[in-house]
Amino acid sequence: MHCVNVVGERLGLRDVNLSDVDALHAIYGNRAATEHLPFNPRSLDEVAGIVEEAMAAAAAEPRRLYLLAVTDPDQHNVIGVARLHVEADHPHSAEIGLGLRPDQWGRGIGTDLIRLLLGFGFRSLGLHRIWGARSPANIPAQLAMLTAGMIEEGRIRHHVLAPEGWRDSIVHSAIVDEWNSLLL
Ligand SMILES: CC(C)(COP(=O)(O)OP(=O)(O)OC[C@H]1O[C@@H](n2cnc3c(N)ncnc32)[C@H](O)[C@@H]1OP(=O)(O)O)[C@@H](O)C(=O)NCCC(=O)NCCS
Repeated sequence: MHCVNVVGERLGLRDVNLSDVDALHAIYGNRAATEHLPFNPRSLDEVAGIVEEAMAAAAAEPRRLYLLAVTDPDQHNVIGVARLHVEADHPHSAEIGLGLRPDQWGRGIGTDLIRLLLGFGFRSLGLHRIWGARSPANIPAQLAMLTAGMIEEGRIRHHVLAPEGWRDSIVHSAIVDEWNSLLL
């Protein structure tokens, strides 16, 4: 099993465990944090189920799902959640998703988190392509992905069934060669 423990300048990333359920519920159960996500706020029990599934998926070989607690660098406080899912049919490619507790928004942490996820995916997992899909209305996610170097690729029409109906997604991606050249 590939255990994750990444420490960045302002953030850490580690595998989730059952002690994170309350902290993740502060995101997945929050109306503002889920406004642009394709589901209604989750209950505490639903979040516990998500964490249990993620822990089981972490032990799979090959590992495809990384549900990660986003912490401050000393790993005491969980302030967000990140998800990286390696595609079964295209194992060089993974989709990312992220959410921060609303009291953390607007200080550049989302952008830092995307940079950290890209570094983890390209360097530690050896991926070639990393992509993320956002709601067309999600401007903070758009700006965070663009600033972190994820190019806007286009629109997938009626990509997800959200509680209010079918919703398009805007896809952003980063390719390892471009990402390496950004670091030069
Ligand atoms: C998306 C999210 C992670 C961004 O995190 P954040 O820490 O607030 O983002 P940052 O502070 O790095 O800001 C990113 C950009 O958005 C801008 N921004 C932040 N909040 C904004 C707002 N309410 N309105 C407009 N722009 C905003 C910032 O100015 C910054 O732009 P810049 O790069 O041009 O300076 C956060 O809003 C979140 O957790 N949202 C709920 C879950 C979600 O939508 N996840 C994304 C799914 S694709």
